[in-house]
Amino acid sequence: MASSKPTSSSKPAYSYSTPPSVPPVDEILPDEPLLLMGAGPVPVQSRVAAANSLVINHLGDTMSQVVSQVKQLASYVFQTESPYVFGVSGPGSAAMEMAITNLVWPGRKVLSIKNGYFSSRFEEMASRVGGETTVLEAGENHYIEADAVEAILKTQDFDVLTIVQGETSNTVFNRQLPEIAALAKKYGVLCIVDAVCTLSTMELNMDEWGIDAVVTGGQKGLSSVPGVSLIAFSELAWDTIQKRDARMPHWCFDTRLAYEFWHNKGYHYTAPVSGLLALHEALRLICIETLPGRFERHLHCSQALQRGIEAMGLDLFVAQESRLNSVIGICLPQEIDGKELLSLMSSRYLVEISGSFGGHIVRIGQMGEQCRSHHLLRVLHALGMSLQSMGAKIDAPAGMAEMEKQLLITYP
Ligand SMILES: Cc1ncc(COP(=O)(O)O)c(C=O)c1O
Repeated sequence: MASSKPTSSSKPAYSYSTPPSVPPVDEILPDEPLLLMGAGPVPVQSRVAAANSLVINHLGDTMSQVVSQVKQLASYVFQTESPYVFGVSGPGSAAMEMAITNLVWPGRKVLSIKNGYFSSRFEEMASRVGGETTVLEAGENHYIEADAVEAILKTQDFDVLTIVQGETSNTVFNRQLPEIAALAKKYGVLCIVDAVCTLSTMELNMDEWGIDAVVTGGQKGLSSVPGVSLIAFSELAWDTIQKRDARMPHWCFDTRLAYEFWHNKGYHYTAPVSGLLALHEALRLICIETLPGRFERHLHCSQALQRGIEAMGLDLFVAQESRLNSVIGICLPQEIDGKELLSLMSSRYLVEISGSFGGHIVRIGQMGEQCRSHHLLRVLHALGMSLQSMGAKIDAPAGMAEMEKQLLITYP
């Protein structure tokens, strides 16, 4: 009897399109890596990169220990004793969405404080899950004043308030966040904070400030890889989630399901193990450095860079009182094309910085590993040399000298 098994010469049952032929990634990547000095992602320490290259089972004893330690380390970074700390598979926006999806549902009233692009994202997410949103706009390139928040909380009822600690898009720092979180508490409103760019670069004390949900991404202040984020809920927020009757629209972001993996050693979905191992190492390095040590390094570096930029003859985009230290906005001379500048800095000096979300500016990040003096020297050198070669009337050497002088000063 003839065999019915297909042979190598038998005609396939389906016709397949021709597979693409593309170069391998090492042919796409530059020979020498570019220094990431933009608004994120940021450089990672070699321990973080090494951890990110591993794949282990997403369940079992080893992973359980990793998860338990990530929670322990993250609790320190959030400054919370709440047990409701979770990792999120996805970007910072996924952690934002997890906060919103769990705490907002049809009919819930949300006060969304708007300083820029990322704070608007919160409002959009809240309205997509049926929240009734009210936007409170801060003045242009200005932090939101606690008095303005209280004025609206006094006259209208809200369930949830959203705010971004550091608006990466326009480099505004909401310096009155502690007062605003206290007001939210006073008026019985849950306070959700986006600390994607700021966590571990500056003070954020979840429990002491009375914040109900803090979200962060991996690729900015924490100096880990993109794609794995963190969220912490207060006991009150957790209790609210347990009591909700409204159906949870997102399966992946349902904290009650995520609890299985993050707190019960069970299965929710296959966790991004490599990214979690990287995050573990990044958080561990933060704990070794300690938060006060890390805040001081960030402030010291960012201030030195800002003074260097000004000494070159360039203006900073945001006035001192509202200025974020974690990402610095720099006004470009009128005649300079921002895209051309970025391209010259990366092709000639192998340094990448970020463009703008509107406005004639560029942005330099000061998050995690970006805050090292050798990186500062390289980015300011690349900026100054590129601008001068493009014809800008600035004094690049004066900027470098000033920054070096500042780096020698230890900030309190
Ligand atoms: C303040 C802030 N919030 C949220 C996000 C969104 O993070 P992701 O791009 O990882 O989704 C960013 C990213 O730049 C950010 O800076």
